[in-house]
Amino acid sequence: MHEFKDRTAVITGAASGIGLALAQRAAREGMRLVLADIDEAKLAEAAATLPLSAASLLARRVDVSREADVAALAEEAYKRFGAVHLLCNNAGVGLTRLSWEMSAADWEWILGVNLWSVVHALHHFMPRMLAQDGESHVVNTASVAGLLSTPGMAAYNVSKHGVVTLSETLYTELAAQNASVGVSVLCPAWVPTAIHTAERNRPERFGTTTLPSSAAAAYQERMDRAVKSGRLTADDMANAVFEAVAAKRFYVIPHSRIKQAVRLRMEDILEDRNPTPI
Ligand SMILES: NC(=O)c1ccc[n+]([C@@H]2O[C@H](COP(=O)([O-])OP(=O)(O)OC[C@H]3O[C@@H](n4cnc5c(N)ncnc54)[C@H](O)[C@@H]3O)[C@@H](O)[C@H]2O)c1
Repeated sequence: MHEFKDRTAVITGAASGIGLALAQRAAREGMRLVLADIDEAKLAEAAATLPLSAASLLARRVDVSREADVAALAEEAYKRFGAVHLLCNNAGVGLTRLSWEMSAADWEWILGVNLWSVVHALHHFMPRMLAQDGESHVVNTASVAGLLSTPGMAAYNVSKHGVVTLSETLYTELAAQNASVGVSVLCPAWVPTAIHTAERNRPERFGTTTLPSSAAAAYQERMDRAVKSGRLTADDMANAVFEAVAAKRFYVIPHSRIKQAVRLRMEDILEDRNPTPI
């Protein structure tokens, strides 16, 4: 999809970080925006900074882990703008714990926000996108965690591996139908955003997590440091996404050096070796 002007983008997790950068880039491209986030106040604040008229913007509090919220978002987006040309399933959360220390509620929260959100969005947006005229594109924000198995991040890794394979499956299904909907999967490494404080937006129904063990706390510290010192920014991610959408490129892996770790994992698998620690 080359033309962005006067087209409509839906972006989840738009109040902060990569989602906000995607919204800013989309606004600069002259797109109409449907912005969704669970943090209503922060979303309103973010929306107010965008160079957009009120007529071109819809901002909604949405918990993407709830199917009813995602269904209502799709309904409202189509009612207001008639079509969706760019769907960015971007909202995401993480938690650093050892695999066996996470509660069922921890898993449900992370899988709900990171993976079920994409399942819900595809179910409620895709039939409408296929039925509308012209080209459109879906961008799912996964992570290099969807290509690797970093310790201390089991639920996050599982959710992001899920998003990668769901995106690959969607791509092949759409390609087989010669559909006018393109797909890309964004797999960043570390980007300085608020992801390391994701629990700030944990819905009450998922309860609260327990304190980390010392091993988990060490992984948490390593993750916090890595996020804060990430050299590519949220704006870099947004620019890479728009470039990939225009080029119809599926894999968007802006941190190119991380590909060495992906290659090593693939070689471990192909050569019957045990996983190399990362
Ligand atoms: N920052 C990184 O290092 C990094 C690396 C790889 C992938 N990612 C992915 O990028 C995406 C964006 O994260 P970010 O780094 O910008 O973090 P962020 O915390 O700055 O932004 C995430 C946004 O998602 C929103 N959100 C959380 N739960 C939600 C819910 N239930 N419903 C709707 N919105 C919800 C938050 O309120 C927040 O505005 C996520 O999918 C994340 O997993 C981030």
